[in-house]
Amino acid sequence: MDEKEPLLQIKQLKKHYPIEKGIMKKQIGMVKAVDDVTLTIHKNEVLGVVGESGCGKTTLGRAILRIVEPTSGEVIYHFDDKAVNFTTLNKKELRSMRRYVQMIFQNPYTSLNPRMTVFDIVAEPMVLAGTFTQNEIGERVRELIIKVGMEEKHLNRYPHAFSGGQRQRIGIARALSLQPKFVIADEAVSALDVSIQAQILNLLQDLQEEYGLTYMFIAHNLSVVEHISDRVCVMYLGRVVEIAETEELFYHPLHPYTEALLSAIPISDPTVKSERIMMPGEIGNAANLPSGCCFHPRCRYAKECCKKEYPVLKEIGQGHMAACHFAEQLNLSGIKELKLK
Ligand SMILES: Nc1ncnc2c1ncn2[C@@H]1O[C@H](COP(=O)(O)OP(=O)(O)OP(=O)(O)O)[C@@H](O)[C@H]1O
Ligand code: SF4
Ligand SMILES: [Mg+2]
Repeated sequence: MDEKEPLLQIKQLKKHYPIEKGIMKKQIGMVKAVDDVTLTIHKNEVLGVVGESGCGKTTLGRAILRIVEPTSGEVIYHFDDKAVNFTTLNKKELRSMRRYVQMIFQNPYTSLNPRMTVFDIVAEPMVLAGTFTQNEIGERVRELIIKVGMEEKHLNRYPHAFSGGQRQRIGIARALSLQPKFVIADEAVSALDVSIQAQILNLLQDLQEEYGLTYMFIAHNLSVVEHISDRVCVMYLGRVVEIAETEELFYHPLHPYTEALLSAIPISDPTVKSERIMMPGEIGNAANLPSGCCFHPRCRYAKECCKKEYPVLKEIGQGHMAACHFAEQLNLSGIKELKLK
């Protein structure tokens, strides 16, 4: 199989939330949570998506799965030689396609129903699908719980009996119960201790190989995505500002925002000097986007034209895209060391 075969094509996807005021709900503005995102996710790859809080990562994931309705744009899935436009499916069609795409949530403490046993939690998607016999459900639940590193005896217990890492394992088993092809993991390890994070990342990698999965792996921490991602996409205020293969992005960033994020990664080698690039202010307001390049109020390379002209995302090197007027001129600093898988 061609490694670069697309599984998912996202075309000019937007999710804008109206800001309403008063009992007449007069619209007084718009939050551009996701604004014109175009990207392709290939079969069997892990695409890391990073950016500060509020940059639109979760909204992008939800709009791709139509958990929230996109404002405009298209999401095309390629399943078994068929191209399916998710954005135009009716509710019934969407329900039948949902089994192929699943989401693992950030918080293993709140995402599992405390009144259901582990068995019922993992089995629920299959029960709701209504196409599996009791035997099939029982067999698959037992197989999955072992695959995620737990034991059959855990199936009769309730979520409160487990640690954060174990709960996330249960969440992963549930997400895989319908044998999806594409999984969005939204900050799946962010709430866990660092040592447990590594275990869950390894588990996700093992499951990816075993089941031939494709992941979109969302995190605000670049060091987390480095470990698991084939490519990384950096978002800023609802837009993709850079996308490249992981090693290329970490060593040779082309966007000043990526350079600043990379400079914040702690380096373990004491002989290597690194300078943290301080970005003034906060990420900004998706309801009131800065003119021109949205990053200009925080960019140390900004020039007059950056305030007026919006930089489009364009390919600079092979498969390496950036949205910066000066991407080819600025010789930006990448990371000094990399602990790639
Ligand atoms: N239902 C909603 N109504 C209005 N605005 C929303 C809604 N959901 C998200 N937003 C806004 O959209 C923007 C993007 O939010 P989103 O949750 O997607 O960001 P994120 O990158 O996932 O952040 P975090 O890292 O904190 O999870 C934010 O400005 C947020 O306030
Ligand atoms: S376009 Fe200008 S402001 Fe935006 S990232 Fe590039 S240099 Fe900075
Ligand atoms: Mg989020």
